[in-house]
Amino acid sequence: MRHLPTRTARRRVVGALIAGVLGLAGLSAPALASPSAYPAAPAPDDGLALTPPMGFNNWNSTHCRAEFNEAMVKGIADLFVEKGLKDAGYEYVNLDDCWALPQRDPDGKLVPDPVRFPNGIKAVADYVHSKGLKFGIYTSAGTKTCNSAGFPGALGHEYSDARQFADWGVDYLKYDNCNNQGVDAKLRYTTMRDALRATGRPIVYSLCEWGQNKPWEWASDVGQLWRTTGDISDNWGSMLSILKKNLPLAPYAGPGNWNDPDMLEVGNGGMTDTEYRTHFSMWSIMAAPLLIGSDLRSASDETFDILSNREVIAVDQDPLGEQGTVLSSDGGRWVVAKEMKDGSRAVALFNETGSAQRISTTAAAVGLPDSDAYTLRDLWQHKSYNTAGRISATVPAHGTVLFRVRADDRWAAHPPAVELDLGGGSFVEAGRPAALTTAVTDLGRTSAKRVSVTLTGPAGWTVRPTSPTTVGTLPSGRSLRTSWKVTAPEGTAHGPYDLTLRATYRSPTGARAESVVPLRFSVVGAPPSGTSYLSDLPWLSTANGWGPVERDTSNGESAAGDGSPLTVNGTVYEKGLGVHAQSAVEYYAGKACETVTAQVGVDDEEGADGSVAFEIRADGTTVATAGPLTNAQAAQGVSADVSGAQVISLVVTDGGDGTTSDHGDWGDARLSC
Ligand code: GLA
Repeated sequence: MRHLPTRTARRRVVGALIAGVLGLAGLSAPALASPSAYPAAPAPDDGLALTPPMGFNNWNSTHCRAEFNEAMVKGIADLFVEKGLKDAGYEYVNLDDCWALPQRDPDGKLVPDPVRFPNGIKAVADYVHSKGLKFGIYTSAGTKTCNSAGFPGALGHEYSDARQFADWGVDYLKYDNCNNQGVDAKLRYTTMRDALRATGRPIVYSLCEWGQNKPWEWASDVGQLWRTTGDISDNWGSMLSILKKNLPLAPYAGPGNWNDPDMLEVGNGGMTDTEYRTHFSMWSIMAAPLLIGSDLRSASDETFDILSNREVIAVDQDPLGEQGTVLSSDGGRWVVAKEMKDGSRAVALFNETGSAQRISTTAAAVGLPDSDAYTLRDLWQHKSYNTAGRISATVPAHGTVLFRVRADDRWAAHPPAVELDLGGGSFVEAGRPAALTTAVTDLGRTSAKRVSVTLTGPAGWTVRPTSPTTVGTLPSGRSLRTSWKVTAPEGTAHGPYDLTLRATYRSPTGARAESVVPLRFSVVGAPPSGTSYLSDLPWLSTANGWGPVERDTSNGESAAGDGSPLTVNGTVYEKGLGVHAQSAVEYYAGKACETVTAQVGVDDEEGADGSVAFEIRADGTTVATAGPLTNAQAAQGVSADVSGAQVISLVVTDGGDGTTSDHGDWGDARLSC
């Protein structure tokens, strides 16, 4: 049998290993002080982060800009209290990179930047503590942090830096991964864990190694949370790709161990409020840390409303500590369910697509016991309904309906849930009446009484029912179907427009209830007959990982029109689309088209790092794929049968290895109708 070294001996081995590696890299490790100089570490079962940490971190809003300073941090702490965020559960006020000077002092100590923090870090920590909040800091498990200015990292200084943090009153450490000198991640992160423990101060420990070494497999007794992906940025594509990487990691989450899909972008301006509600809903159902990343000193009421939604926060903070699991995701219609400590289930109906979608599941499918009926609580509308078992909604483009569902006996106190549904497409050609059908379906155990449905369009549109819009009694499980003629005025510009579908009704007890869905319609032109270049056609929508999608040039940088000729492995394409993963470009095909063809590959404009995969979807179903392709490969031909599709999408994903340098080209992309 092999004899394991004692804890202290093991720590010395770790220290020696790190010193050895640093020595090889020509660096000294002056501060690898003997751990035995410090008090014994508390037991690993430390009661830290039994629910996902909540708080603030400046990075997403300021990066290293000058406004990251003492005034900001104090201002956030003040607002946590004044705006009720502290009462809602937000606790940590955390600093990210760039708080220090590039050089340590002669004793090897970290020096706070005197311009940003003229009173030092301890003064800020004291201020945060005086508000009944906790304070967090950042450094890297490398020789320097990530910023190019080269701020000191803690590799080789773990024990003295941890001591300094503890002396300042730090309660939370985010430990990054830059400039790690190739030292084994487990070793680097475990050494800092031991250094933090040796301080005797309870410090939440956040591993930020971007999921590179699958920390979910080894870090459960290292830290309380670990990043699972690269950095989030404030756009839909980034948020979506991170969400998709984090969802499958549900089995690894639990009290004291959280998957961290990175900090919140809510309120930073790059997404719509609908998208931010999706971001917040999905982070909550994934039991992700909720670290606000916007400057609350200039945040809108809507941002505060989203971040302070206590019913959604309760999903995140549920003490059972389950991360929600995916029950289905076909066609971009996601159902994610999370078991809650009280036996209820949180259920997210998330619509990844660019048009309203009906998304549906059942109480049985989300794991609830058999019951006559259930209470269905809508956590964004703050209203309760009863359902006989179906959990279903028409969800707006990029939206999420978040329910909490219970098998309780109080269901009869609530009106029946009604589902509003749209049949027959959401496209109109200006000046030509489009026929569509709506359905109002009673999902409840009880009947809906005096049901009345209205559909309203933007100013100037005509919306006319051609069949009844009211019914006296709508029994459980039945629908009121109404036909409509919708006309957008002649000359209406192509693009998206919102119509509102609303049903008003009464519960059997006479209480009024209402259900409303915004429906996004697109005013489109008839698809062209013959073969056209896609870059010559108007698109319905685009999402792109870096700047806008470009017509007939490569993606270029983040500005519009800054690409170069589309070039894959030396071959230039005069026509096509230049995109960046994660990307999706949608076109209206109106069931009148047959094929999409293209020559796809990684554009030559960006070094050798890029690797992307291509997909063509017809009404959400993948009908052709190519790749992952790398920069070294020639373009590959793809051809997709899209007959019968209303909408076709050209999708580019990161090939499974992150989006760095992922400039994808749809060379010669054509549509035949
Ligand atoms: C890395 C991290 C980010 C942020 C920056 C700071 O990119 O992943 O969250 O901390 O460093 O430089």
